[in-house]
Amino acid sequence: MPFDHNHHYHPALLRLLPPGPGRALDVGCGDGRFARKLAAAGMTVEGIDLSDEMLARAASAGSPGPGTVEYRRADVTAEPLAPESYAYISCLASLHHVPFETVTRLRDALAPGGVLAVLGCARPSRPSDYARELAAVPANALARLLVFAGDRLNGGADPVAKAPVRMDFPPLTDVRRDSARLLPGSTVRPLLFWRYLLVWRKPTDHPAAG
Ligand SMILES: C[S@@+](CC[C@H](N)C(=O)[O-])C[C@H]1O[C@@H](n2cnc3c(N)ncnc32)[C@H](O)[C@@H]1O
Repeated sequence: MPFDHNHHYHPALLRLLPPGPGRALDVGCGDGRFARKLAAAGMTVEGIDLSDEMLARAASAGSPGPGTVEYRRADVTAEPLAPESYAYISCLASLHHVPFETVTRLRDALAPGGVLAVLGCARPSRPSDYARELAAVPANALARLLVFAGDRLNGGADPVAKAPVRMDFPPLTDVRRDSARLLPGSTVRPLLFWRYLLVWRKPTDHPAAG
């Protein structure tokens, strides 16, 4: 079934782009689907991932322009990232692959006024989280059906490459606590389809990383 929870939230993530062209980093870019959308929005994009297979798929898909995309094999926990250099950094279903503290590297790499957007995976913590997860089951079934029917009408779906997944998710309370500690002023919003959206805008007067 082609309904993909990460792809479903691409429009919400694109709405967070700062105005104008600029540099973007997509962490754990997988097959590059979101990186290409950033390039289509005019950004100069770098997609990094650990998977050679995913990077090969991403590279073979080309770039739609008007922006550009370059992919490279890199571990976000170790890759040197130039300070204050990106207008937008995205992590789609990739942050739970690494220690949460990795956001401090991304924080330092953001230009003042830049946006960090994390589409994350977390375990439910509060009763309202469990209720949302329950409500997601029929909504998911309906969405899958609608996407499947739409794809049939349009002559079939694009094949979706399976990126490496990790099912060891942190509790949402930990995400909220650590975001508040490491990214003061950030917001963490639980979403319907087993994801949360963490957004942090770097203040223009944020002290540069020392
Ligand atoms: C679940 S996939 C998500 C892929 C893509 N962002 C999407 O939305 O379809 C997680 C990706 O993170 C990558 N990844 C895992 N650990 C990483 C690391 N330390 N540095 C860079 N990428 C990593 C994996 O190779 C995988 O492609």
